[in-house]
Amino acid sequence: LILTQDELKKIAAYKAVEYVESNMILGLGTGSTAKHAIDRIGELLRQGKLSNIIGIPTSTITHEQALSLNIPLSDLDTHPVLDLAIDGADEVDPNMNLVKGRGGSLLREKMIEGCCKKFVVIVDESKLVDYVGASGLALPVEVVPFCWKFTASKLQTLFKDAGCVAKLRVISGSVDHPYVTDNGNYIIDLYFKKDIGDLKAAGDAMLRFAGVVEHGMFIDMATTLIVAGELGITVRHK
Ligand code: A5P
Repeated sequence: LILTQDELKKIAAYKAVEYVESNMILGLGTGSTAKHAIDRIGELLRQGKLSNIIGIPTSTITHEQALSLNIPLSDLDTHPVLDLAIDGADEVDPNMNLVKGRGGSLLREKMIEGCCKKFVVIVDESKLVDYVGASGLALPVEVVPFCWKFTASKLQTLFKDAGCVAKLRVISGSVDHPYVTDNGNYIIDLYFKKDIGDLKAAGDAMLRFAGVVEHGMFIDMATTLIVAGELGITVRHK
């Protein structure tokens, strides 16, 4: 039995939705894995198996998906404490630290998922890594557009010992048209040749650059990790 990556994502997503109860304020993640969870929540609401859910979407795309499923929505201003959030990740390290933001929504995700009593991360097994950056995928950093080259060069220099290469994210299919986040910012993707070591120190150093808005490492935030693989589902709690 060979499952596709998308089928594994769906299995993890459906498992996570088992943690959803009626009357919850829910953080709704972004990406192809979270999308399955939101579809499932919409389905359970429609069937009357869940009721009185309020969703807080982490991106405009998730906002639109939730609206189309008639999931009632609100925001952090109105609901600063959430019961649960469900979201995917680009990488998960052995300590359940995450890299997120390949979909560009890291800032809203971090704001919202930082306010949740429980944060359930859903991935297929391809997302598990020994250390941040090991998959060869980028660590995304949201920066203000003003003098982004300056900020990119500061970031690259900060991680020079890890062989860092900083690249402006461009709209797919374009050569030099910057990708713009929901917040009107740019994304600098950082690629590493080696382990960057202390994640907290690395994150704090990035945040000291005035042009940096937020980085895509979600350190010590996940409370539950659901991994779907060919051999089944594993659930880990922190
Ligand atoms: C969105 O900005 C990201 O943080 C996503 O949560 C992450 O990229 C996972 O996406 P997939 O579920 O599509 O792999």
